[in-house]
Amino acid sequence: MSVLVTGGAGFIGSHTVVELLNAGEKVIIIDNFYNSKPSVLEAIKTITGKDFTFYEIDYLDRKALERVFEENPDIDSVINFAGYKAVGESVKKPIEYYTNNISGALVLLDTMRKYHVKKFVFSSSATVYGEPERIPLTEDCKTGGTTNPYGTTKLFIEQILKDIYASDNSWDIAILRYFNPVGAHESGLIGEEPQGIPNNLMPYIARVAAGTLHELSVFGNDYDTKDGTGVRDYIHVVDLAKGHLKAIEKLNKEKSGLYIYNLGTGVGYSVLDMVKAFEKATGKKVPYKIAPRREGDIATCYSDPKKAKEELGWEATKTLEDMCKDSWHYIEKHMQ
Ligand code: WQD
Repeated sequence: MSVLVTGGAGFIGSHTVVELLNAGEKVIIIDNFYNSKPSVLEAIKTITGKDFTFYEIDYLDRKALERVFEENPDIDSVINFAGYKAVGESVKKPIEYYTNNISGALVLLDTMRKYHVKKFVFSSSATVYGEPERIPLTEDCKTGGTTNPYGTTKLFIEQILKDIYASDNSWDIAILRYFNPVGAHESGLIGEEPQGIPNNLMPYIARVAAGTLHELSVFGNDYDTKDGTGVRDYIHVVDLAKGHLKAIEKLNKEKSGLYIYNLGTGVGYSVLDMVKAFEKATGKKVPYKIAPRREGDIATCYSDPKKAKEELGWEATKTLEDMCKDSWHYIEKHMQ
């Protein structure tokens, strides 16, 4: 049987494909290289010593997607990473975000239905919690109040999945809510390659350390947190990838169901914690200045990952030092 991975050449997708291949799963990747590169496919083969099937297609292209299912009748589950994911960009381009993320998911789900494939893992986000009802966040906390179209697409697709399951409970669905994915594979061959200036903290810190960006702007130091800067639940991308393998195993064990899991460490670190940890782990200096708050940011967000541990047998094991070292190792290997 095969796992179809959409967006499998992307940051989280590629790390998940590595774990799937290492676990002996047969993998098919589709990707249109909108936010990834063909070289990632070679890197996956180098890391694992294994091969996989690849199609360069857009998951919105129903005909092309149907061809993938026609040519691979042994597909029995799908992990959906495909989607635009830049918060700031989504505010400027809502039509593109709703079209690509939501219409894409609907075309994918409709095609899965046509070929009687009903095991589905969805790449969701802690953003669906909006302003957290309580901290640490558990899966039963209220969702909604998302502050940007990117987060709203995740919320809408979660609702679509709940409605699909309510209409036909032969579906077998796992919704995985990521907190803040960071780091890179220990080989340094795959990692986070944001287009242009990074929006996210860790890739920005890494480029300041590399000297390709001048200094870090700390977006606000007047939040109600221990040092006034934003607190987040940073999780190593390899831990996150392993969580997807556990989710597939869960769906293979269960006949049907709809399951929601937080994938986080349960520990919150502030922006200044991250700067200090990165400097300690790499020996590099990260100059910064305090800047105004960023629109839409919340003070504190971190998970209670107990449910994933109890039901998936999964928990994050990599340390903050691993996250910093592996981020830096990737940048060192890819610095122009
Ligand atoms: C983290 C903290 C910033 C940059 C978003 C999405 C989430 C996921 C991860 C896609 C905050 C501060 C940041 C900088 C800073 N996206 N910061 N200077 O906003 O928690 O989450 O990205 O998978 O769904 O919502 O992540 O890394 O942008 O910010 O001070 O240059 O770092 O204010 O406190 P965020 P982030």
